[in-house]
Amino acid sequence: MQEVMKVTDQRYRLGYHLMTKGGWMNDSNGFPWFKGYYHMFYQYYPYAAEWGPMHWGHARSKDLVHWETLPVALAPDEHEDGCFSGSAVVYDDKLWLIYTGHHLTNPEDSEEFYQDQNIAWSEDGIHFTKYEGNPVLRAPADNTKHFRNPKVWQEGDIFYMVLGSQGSDELGRALLYESNDLKKWQLVSVLDKAMNLKDEGYMWECPDFFHLDGQDVLLMSPRGLEPQGDCFHNLNQTCYLLGQQDEENYLVRQEFTEIDRGHDFYATQTMLAPDGRRIMTAWMNAWDSPMYEKEDGWAGALTIPRELRIEKGRLYQKPVSELSSMRLHRVLDGGLVPESSISLPAASEIKLLFKDCGDFSGRLLKIGDGGQELSISLDAEGSRILVERTTKDGLRAAKIMPYKDLDLHIFVDRSSAEIFVNRGEITFTERMYWQGKLELSLGEKAVREACIYALEKETNQY
Ligand code: FRU
Repeated sequence: MQEVMKVTDQRYRLGYHLMTKGGWMNDSNGFPWFKGYYHMFYQYYPYAAEWGPMHWGHARSKDLVHWETLPVALAPDEHEDGCFSGSAVVYDDKLWLIYTGHHLTNPEDSEEFYQDQNIAWSEDGIHFTKYEGNPVLRAPADNTKHFRNPKVWQEGDIFYMVLGSQGSDELGRALLYESNDLKKWQLVSVLDKAMNLKDEGYMWECPDFFHLDGQDVLLMSPRGLEPQGDCFHNLNQTCYLLGQQDEENYLVRQEFTEIDRGHDFYATQTMLAPDGRRIMTAWMNAWDSPMYEKEDGWAGALTIPRELRIEKGRLYQKPVSELSSMRLHRVLDGGLVPESSISLPAASEIKLLFKDCGDFSGRLLKIGDGGQELSISLDAEGSRILVERTTKDGLRAAKIMPYKDLDLHIFVDRSSAEIFVNRGEITFTERMYWQGKLELSLGEKAVREACIYALEKETNQY
């Protein structure tokens, strides 16, 4: 019997983000609503704080804030070398998981594999049985080995699946399938594909497709993009495309846009909540993140859930309103004079309004513990906002739409910061390995309105 990994040091443990109780986490997987609970599945390796043969970890929540970890939902069996990312759907009063079977063809070489799609079901939402007719979908002839990450949803009586794939031209693409019963799938179309390698990637991982505010939205995590100006500086990105699906089921779309501009955001998963909100979460790391928590027996976490909307042709993100229930007390309510400092609880929510800063260039603030620092600045000439952390390749920047006042909404946790700029027009997600007491220090610009809350520190129950 292999031993499950245990956390050996609490120093970087997050207060209110979903994490494993020990071991490795990457992508969020299914994120359904079933019998009164939000469920969250995720890529999980219980036996080391490193990526390994993938399982599906599982937690559930009534309020998107407090998560109860449940037993592992899927583990690889003798036919599989991993249960890779996928999604979940409710059908026939059961909860169905749709996942990628990962199969090594040469155990000596992790690059030699094939992938297929599989299903498992549960009546209680806790114990899952793999379907005996698996796999339910194999790669078409014009596909390479990259064939993974099914996102399934239902429209009327039909199930649709968007799937990450690489065509024989070695470019990324999203395939669209349909089914009446989750067991037999027909290809509908190549929903969209990369126009070239350097701008759009060789593989589109974790696609998602939905209708929002009058647009069709395709999310995906393309691999292989080259940096352009301030964009695409991580090893892999997560992007969105807005457009309209045409009669041939092809997406007529606008340009690739990064969803989040920080270092630690990858592989999104969205869900349609019972009240109609489109809620997104993502892995709060990236494949090239240092993940110092590995030394302590765990790795990886998910972002806070974010509600999506489209405004002025862009995808906006807003922390879900449920998160306000984590507020314990106010640390500050009022303004802040330039160059002032205030000490911050390690789990805190910060809302700041800077007035008349259309012409301002310079630092707005920094958050640090005397060692590690995260600073936020404006560059008026370039209409840019800059977020910099004290690490190698620490700077990330983004253009912002013309503005006069600037608002920042920041969620700080023991080893992370999520920054929402101008009502969520731009976000930056960062892992920050703070250890000491945190302080927020202002630059040369006053804050007209500030509200800082101390937040709950133990929202996970294992
Ligand atoms: C994305 C990804 C997926 C794959 C999973 C494996 O981060 O590479 O494409 O299914 O992780 O853990």
